[in-house]
Amino acid sequence: MHSVSLLATLALTAAALPSTKKRDSSNPTVKGEPEVIGLLADPNLNRDSCGSSKYGDRALWLCRDSQHYDEDGVPILPLISDTASWTDILPEGGSNLLMYGDNQDQPFLPLLNCTDNVAGACDDGSRYAVWPDSPPLVTSDDNSTAISYVWNRNIHINGLEDLIPDPSVALYRLTYNYGDDGLPEVEVVDEKFWEENAIPYGAYGSLVHDDTAYLWGKGSDGAVSLARVPTASVEDKSTYEYYVNGEWTGDVPSFGDDGVDLENASAGGQGTYYYSDPWESYVWIGQETVSVSADFFITTAPEPQGPWIEPINFHSAETGNDTLGAYTLQANPALTAPGANEIYLTYTKTDKVSDDVALYTMPLIHVEWE
Ligand SMILES: *[C@@H]1O[C@H](CO)[C@@H](O)[C@H](O)[C@H]1NC(C)=O
Ligand SMILES: *[C@@H]1O[C@H](CO)[C@@H](O)[C@H](O)[C@H]1NC(C)=O
Ligand SMILES: *[C@@H]1O[C@H](CO)[C@@H](O)[C@H](O)[C@H]1NC(C)=O
Ligand SMILES: *[C@@H]1O[C@H](CO)[C@@H](O)[C@H](O)[C@H]1NC(C)=O
Repeated sequence: MHSVSLLATLALTAAALPSTKKRDSSNPTVKGEPEVIGLLADPNLNRDSCGSSKYGDRALWLCRDSQHYDEDGVPILPLISDTASWTDILPEGGSNLLMYGDNQDQPFLPLLNCTDNVAGACDDGSRYAVWPDSPPLVTSDDNSTAISYVWNRNIHINGLEDLIPDPSVALYRLTYNYGDDGLPEVEVVDEKFWEENAIPYGAYGSLVHDDTAYLWGKGSDGAVSLARVPTASVEDKSTYEYYVNGEWTGDVPSFGDDGVDLENASAGGQGTYYYSDPWESYVWIGQETVSVSADFFITTAPEPQGPWIEPINFHSAETGNDTLGAYTLQANPALTAPGANEIYLTYTKTDKVSDDVALYTMPLIHVEWE
């Protein structure tokens, strides 16, 4: 612990000196007031927990539970476990608010269990909900075909209670041919790419930098761990390396091992990892552990493995007035204008609009950095 703090102190000192770095990412500071641009929405679907990826001049949004509306604007059953949609990215940064794309009322990432309804509901009242924690990771894109992957924890829940604390993780491959009208095609690479009670690398967050995919995993013990793999061989487990005890190793650690937890690599809740060009730095933005407030935290690091600065609460947006007022706090680097020192934030805001109706909305917020 002591030597890690010392390293962080040295890193801070180095960053304060004149350097080749264009920006100082050790103390991210918001410039002016963040602006709420509006609410991203598909007029046909009320959608929970979306995150975005970049496909050319469009963003693909992957969301959880989605419902159509009745004529009074009240969400109706069935609950579709997960859906996807497009928005058009604006050349000056940001995105149109209209989300579009036909899910044909089926889950976008196919259900793997209790598949005879679109919610993943089982006869015993439990659910195998497909609830992705992070958006697809684009690993190759030649402006003609884009390949991306989702690592999704195969959660089994009763209400909101996890019946399996550390479920297996499915790997899905998405293929999109530019010019196609529809959404990307989805295939299941492996229903259990990571076994039950293993570290769920890739499910907590991911990014690609210099042809390497970095995959973060967080298990029920709260430890945040990191793996890396060349983008060309994401499906080949033998090419993965894991960060353990300060070194990269080809031996996969077990859940709960010493030396796998990256200190301060997140604030503990759901969020997004990305690489910032202006800062030449790795960034995580998201929520605190078990928070339901729209308090956005950031931490940064010169390398994916750290050292990560202590997370900073850089913005507090409006929390909804329903019980779970704000969650799935996300950064959307897909919407950043090339070279701009900015980030677009989204979150799921839940409001109780009448005695028995709660609605999800997704505010889009623009943040500029000093
Ligand atoms: C794809 O298009 C973008 C934007 O025009 C360009 O920057 C990029 O180099 C292109 N990628 C390839 C592989 O051609
Ligand atoms: C599907 O359900 C069976 C029976 O409960 C379980 O053994 C299996 O692990 C589940 N598969 C997935 C992908 O969750
Ligand atoms: C991580 O955060 C803790 C407080 O939560 C702090 O004491 C510690 O120094 C931080 N570690 C690093 C590497 O900055
Ligand atoms: C909760 O927020 C919604 C949306 O702003 C508003 O319509 C509703 O009146 C609020 N309910 C309460 C109880 O404050």
